[in-house]
Amino acid sequence: MHKVPLVESLRIIGRGSLNWMAERPIVVSFEVTDSCTCWCKHCDHGGAKDDLKNLKPADYRRYMNALKPCVVQVSGGEPLMRDDLVEIVRNIKLPSGLPYTILVSNWSLMTEERYLELREAGVDQFSVSLDFPDARHDHFRRLPGLYDRLSRVIPKLAALGHDDIVLNTCITSENVHEINAAADKAREWGVNICYSAYSARRTGCQDYMLSSQEQLGLMNRELDRVEKRRDGSNWIVNAPTTIEATRRYFERGGMPGCKAGLRFLVVNARGELQPCSMQFKTYPLEQQARMVKEFTESNTCDQCYVSIRSYLDKRFSTLLWENVRGFFSFAKRGERAPETDTARA
Ligand SMILES: C[S@@+](CC[C@H](N)C(=O)[O-])C[C@H]1O[C@@H](n2cnc3c(N)ncnc32)[C@H](O)[C@@H]1O
Ligand code: SF4
Ligand code: SF4
Repeated sequence: MHKVPLVESLRIIGRGSLNWMAERPIVVSFEVTDSCTCWCKHCDHGGAKDDLKNLKPADYRRYMNALKPCVVQVSGGEPLMRDDLVEIVRNIKLPSGLPYTILVSNWSLMTEERYLELREAGVDQFSVSLDFPDARHDHFRRLPGLYDRLSRVIPKLAALGHDDIVLNTCITSENVHEINAAADKAREWGVNICYSAYSARRTGCQDYMLSSQEQLGLMNRELDRVEKRRDGSNWIVNAPTTIEATRRYFERGGMPGCKAGLRFLVVNARGELQPCSMQFKTYPLEQQARMVKEFTESNTCDQCYVSIRSYLDKRFSTLLWENVRGFFSFAKRGERAPETDTARA
């Protein structure tokens, strides 16, 4: 995964430090539509939804000015369903180069033209969901032909050499034996890989959690192998501490210490603030502080360890170090973090 240039790295770290102290979010996830092209088995989205009240591209600048995040995820639903997505990204990205912007998408609608326009508008990282390294992906996502499309488009765009595409494999009971096969596919296509963890909170379905000793053993063996495959190129994007925490999440069936609403939050398609994509009490933009008071300070939910949490439940020193080591421009490859646990801030 390509590193962020030095000046931009310093800006991101500076903004992150200020936000941490001021109790503003470090990461904001903009869910720009509730509609989707897929009907994935593990998700509560699927198909077309009422998009009439969605925020317009220019509205996003107002949210950026108020929340000042240093990292933004543009997600959904399926964000590529919005024809004005490039305009949205232009309103999110500031002249300073902030925020570091990640487009989280299933790529069912990605083309070379859109990829290049989105890069130019300010997307720093393209996160592409891949649940299986073959046509079982279509079955899980209930979209025939999706895998075929990905296997044509991803290597072609990777060959442009920008090194900004990351496969995102959400670990479930269905694909736990394919963790390294997904990494093989990333290598074959010339892209990076990041793992996240299934949460039953979205759909209430426990079937995709890892529960038996056999499944947990398999996960641990697969993740041990992933750890051995790291090299200096940062192609396995998760920090080692995040992989460790993912193991513990599945072993315990939860992960306490969530800072949703404070360190990260979701802006839904209509512009309401939510603590996360799986907590549905909403607040107006001006009332983030009320959300922290009413929700975060007494939150006991431990039901996910999705990527937005895995960035942000750590001590600030750990977070800073991992990002400096992994993404940004200074720090030698292979140096260890000063804190290697995931103790809460
Ligand atoms: C909700 S989707 C939105 C963006 C886009 N439609 C996509 O699939 O990438 C964002 C990520 O959430 C993951 N996801 C969906 N349901 C999940 C669940 N129950 N637990 C954990 N991750 C989930 C997806 O696999 C995807 O990588
Ligand atoms: S995971 Fe993404 S692609 Fe699948 S239904 Fe949910 S929002 Fe749509
Ligand atoms: S653990 Fe936190 S981020 Fe995850 S579902 Fe619960 S409140 Fe949301």
